Amino acid sequence: MILSFENKVALVTGAASGLGLATAKAFAESGASVVLADWNEKAAQSAARELAAQGHKTLAIRCDVSDDAQVEAMVKQTVATFGKLDAAYNNAGVQNVLAMTADTTREDYDKVMGINLRGVWSCMKFELQQMSKQGSGVIINCSSIGGRVGGAERGIYHAAKHGVIGFTRSAALEYAARGIRINAVCPGLIWTPMADQMVAAGQGEALKSMERSVPMGRVGRPEEIADAVLWLSSDAASYVTGQAISVDGGLIMP
Ligand SMILES: NC(=O)c1ccc[n+]([C@@H]2O[C@H](COP(=O)([O-])OP(=O)(O)OC[C@H]3O[C@@H](n4cnc5c(N)ncnc54)[C@H](O)[C@@H]3O)[C@@H](O)[C@H]2O)c1
Repeated sequence: MILSFENKVALVTGAASGLGLATAKAFAESGASVVLADWNEKAAQSAARELAAQGHKTLAIRCDVSDDAQVEAMVKQTVATFGKLDAAYNNAGVQNVLAMTADTTREDYDKVMGINLRGVWSCMKFELQQMSKQGSGVIINCSSIGGRVGGAERGIYHAAKHGVIGFTRSAALEYAARGIRINAVCPGLIWTPMADQMVAAGQGEALKSMERSVPMGRVGRPEEIADAVLWLSSDAASYVTGQAISVDGGLIMP
């Protein structure tokens, strides 16, 4: 997809792997200065170095999105380095431990909610403080098909991803008249290290049967999510806000 992000600054969380990495690359290849934030500092630095070697402007930041102070520092460092923040993809996320609701633990609830939901809230909070000063900006939050439907033994993850859509819509209402657009993407089944982890956790059969039920008959590629994020971040989507866009080969049609 040819969209120009020349002179734009893009921030991606969870940028060391999977969808975040593909999106950080796509922003860089479209001309943006890109901040790759991840709690896996080594992997974020190595991805940033690889892009910089190709002539792109990058910055790697170690950030655990479940820690407000680190999120605030991440946004400050972005602005101190590149002068502004035009687009943010709040993508960092983890799976829950598979369990029936009665068997879930408070520990897993706090972990998954802290990253997948409070992390998105925290990122939005500090990004919006900066974007409000600028009077411009675009935020894309990563939800999931899990934000649209229930999932047996996956209630904590699905609840967090439903919550992401609620925050997206609410914040979009608040900032629509202030030059800031906020949308969510809902990836379907996309092959990334997270999917590898699901196979390792014994969910390989469930994934295969999900793949069989995808109308397009295949899993998605990380680049197909990156394309949606870049479109939503671009002026080509200038009248789009408060939406949750499924990119899932037709799996969920709400
Ligand atoms: N792969 C899929 O099929 C799929 C489907 C729907 C939604 N998603 C969502 O897409 C997002 C990315 O998933 P992925 O498949 O690329 O996974 P992934 O495991 O390949 O990548 C996730 C990245 O997030 C980072 N991360 C995790 N917790 C973090 C934290 N607290 N702070 C900072 N970084 C953190 C990891 O280090 C990793 O680099 C997640 O929010 C996930 O829920 C993925």
